[in-house]
Amino acid sequence: MIRARTLIGAAGAAGAVAALAAPYWLPKRVVALRGAIFTLVNGEEGVPVLDRPGGTADFLRVYGDPAANGRSHGAGLSDLFWYWLAPGPEVHQEHLEPGPRYDEAARTTRSILASRTKAQWAELVTRCTSKVLTSSPLSPNDPVRLRDLMMPVWAEVYYELVFREPCPRLARDLIVANADDVVSALKCTRLRHMGRRNRLTRYLRRRIDAGEVPVELPASMTAAEQAWYLQGAFFNTAVVQMSEAMAHVLLAVAQHARVQDRLRREPDARYLDDVINEAMRVWPLFGIAHRITTADIDVVPPIAAGSVVLFDYPGFQRGSGLAGFDPGRWERGESAKTMNFIPFGVSANRACPARGVAPVGMRACAREVLERFTLSSSAAHTRSLANRGPVFLTPVGAPPPPVIRLALMRLGDRWADVWRSLVQLLFGTFMVWDARRLALCRTYFAEHPEHLPS
Ligand code: HEM
Repeated sequence: MIRARTLIGAAGAAGAVAALAAPYWLPKRVVALRGAIFTLVNGEEGVPVLDRPGGTADFLRVYGDPAANGRSHGAGLSDLFWYWLAPGPEVHQEHLEPGPRYDEAARTTRSILASRTKAQWAELVTRCTSKVLTSSPLSPNDPVRLRDLMMPVWAEVYYELVFREPCPRLARDLIVANADDVVSALKCTRLRHMGRRNRLTRYLRRRIDAGEVPVELPASMTAAEQAWYLQGAFFNTAVVQMSEAMAHVLLAVAQHARVQDRLRREPDARYLDDVINEAMRVWPLFGIAHRITTADIDVVPPIAAGSVVLFDYPGFQRGSGLAGFDPGRWERGESAKTMNFIPFGVSANRACPARGVAPVGMRACAREVLERFTLSSSAAHTRSLANRGPVFLTPVGAPPPPVIRLALMRLGDRWADVWRSLVQLLFGTFMVWDARRLALCRTYFAEHPEHLPS
């Protein structure tokens, strides 16, 4: 009897310890379980290039091969990506198959992005950042989420780029609601909410129909497709990527006091570029990019046509063996080449069209934030940034938040992670299943064989 009580007591104590330690073990297990469920539903698919005998040496060779240019057709994964990027994933530049439609969309994006000089880009981003920072209700006592703070900035920037006029509040709210919905669904922290996305589509369509979009849009697309094209490239990808990238940079700065001090002393020096690059190296925005090969690729062993090849960014950039955030390494002789640094993809194969202008905007935005605020944070900094980057923003010169506030932020963030990972498991599983059921990509190509890769 006494033994049984002792055993029950020990089991209870072990259970209590496991529950109290949940923030340290549960989220990781749940992520692994989510991966396993995704594989189960989607099937094993894909050739991870880094796991092949050629490893990192073959990575750029395969990524840059002209045959690694298929984007959607032939990969089960595509149904899931199309689901996350809807509406209009069939004309989202990232998912268009090579051919005249892709060429036209890519040309249009390049020409819109090139419509401002670098000085004009810096001026536009500085002005929009300043507007958002001065109009947001920020309190030094309440942490803000960096991703949420940044989204209105980039909504304003990309609206003004496309419409060549200052962004009205209504349009900004529609763009932020759309971008936030896409990125939250992608991270499985929320289910997608098509109503929010469709409201932006209707707004864009109205402006197109009224002849109020001054930039040239892909002429071979219908008005509905043009609205989706704009929504996909500028009011989804551009806003999401810039907000995430800035959240990583600013969160890293918030957690490295010496880096922040130096940036404040030398805001115009090359050091800011090093900080931005180092943040993109340690926390690359892309986890895994995939391609579907449209011909055989001649490596050892060869990759057959029709394979889904996977390019693991964190793995490739980590392959340089340089762990941890240290912007100083860029001054000590390391370079993009020695560190396998490819934040915007490979230029030979559908690289990011914003690779020239994104760093200019990030520099201008970071300067504007650092000129006004001291940043501090004790939250976890992960690549997926599911916590949206909580930080305290203290006006420059004012006392920083007391240590107890930072300790509470840390505790709150770790426990929120437990709850969030369970939510992600549930929502992720549902969306993988729902995407398979809807089969957006498979159905589209079955009905439109004329848009298969040419
Ligand atoms: C710091 C910010 C950004 C980063 C790190 C980034 C990164 C990338 C990467 C790595 C790719 C290639 C993915 C692949 O190979 O599959 C890509 C593609 C793309 N990005 Fe960006 N991006 C950023 C901002 C932007 C912005 C501002 C736009 C605005 C239009 C944009 C539009 C696109 C498009 C349309 C593609 C697809 C290119 C194609 O397939 O032709 N990105 N981006």
